[in-house]
Amino acid sequence: MITVITGASAGIGAAAATGLSRLGHRVVLVGRDEGRLKSVADGLSGSKADVLTCDYTSLDDVRRLAELLRERYERIGVLANNAGVMSPRRQITVDGHELMIQVNHLAPFLLTDYLTDRVDRVVTTCSRAGRSGRLDPADLSRERRRWNGWLQYGDTKQANALFTVGLAKRGVSATCFHPGVIRTGFAADTWLMRLFLATPGYAKPPEHGARTLVHLATQEDGTSGAGGYFAENKQERVPAGMSDPDLAERLWTASARAVSG
Ligand SMILES: NC(=O)c1ccc[n+]([C@@H]2O[C@H](COP(=O)([O-])OP(=O)(O)OC[C@H]3O[C@@H](n4cnc5c(N)ncnc54)[C@H](OP(=O)(O)O)[C@@H]3O)[C@@H](O)[C@H]2O)c1
Repeated sequence: MITVITGASAGIGAAAATGLSRLGHRVVLVGRDEGRLKSVADGLSGSKADVLTCDYTSLDDVRRLAELLRERYERIGVLANNAGVMSPRRQITVDGHELMIQVNHLAPFLLTDYLTDRVDRVVTTCSRAGRSGRLDPADLSRERRRWNGWLQYGDTKQANALFTVGLAKRGVSATCFHPGVIRTGFAADTWLMRLFLATPGYAKPPEHGARTLVHLATQEDGTSGAGGYFAENKQERVPAGMSDPDLAERLWTASARAVSG
């Protein structure tokens, strides 16, 4: 089974690659840096992994990745949309979108859309931070509202959950999950993450964060729980902002417009 994992060069994605490779998946590792990806690939115990680079700050690069995946793989068992970033500094991509909404939501939206007819299930790394999201489909980059890094990050993780709802509505076996607070390179330069990492026993290792991804990629929950949000291998209720089908549709329309070039 072919399993494509984005953000596989480090942290939760690399740990999920290790776990799924051990279970017999042939993993395709996607990230920005070939060297980092190769060193993850070299450490896997299962069959040889493929390595593909892509920088989500360019939607053209995402289109190139999608074409390459379509060329190479007739069928993709699992697409794990895991790449993500938290930036305390407001940055705008070459496509004109705020960095986090592009990397965390628009790029995986575009990639998944290209591959929907080839993919058996989609698992997206969401976050509990989505509960505090106040996403406005008409203002995805927060140009007209107050911006700070955690507010925007929350919106993007809310978008991950709503995208999952939208995919399920279209018949795709899509789920998303909160990995926990995990000791990775994520948000390393923020005081909040530094505080979490300094609190003994609070942040868990990447293998812990990858557990629910591996569960959803391999167990029935990954299909029977379509549209759902999971944590610690179990489905959880989420606020309306992360599950409202009307909001999910408005986000879908806005996202399709945003990636249309
Ligand atoms: N760690 C936590 O506590 C936590 C909690 C909740 C949710 N999450 C979510 O978990 C996911 C994985 O994060 P992590 O904790 O494993 O962090 P990480 O160690 O920083 O890994 C992030 C991954 O995303 C990739 N990435 C970042 N920017 C990218 C870009 N512009 N284009 C393509 N790939 C890019 C990175 O690739 P490079 O090697 O090229 O940088 C890396 O492989 C994210 O979606 C994050 O929002 C994490």
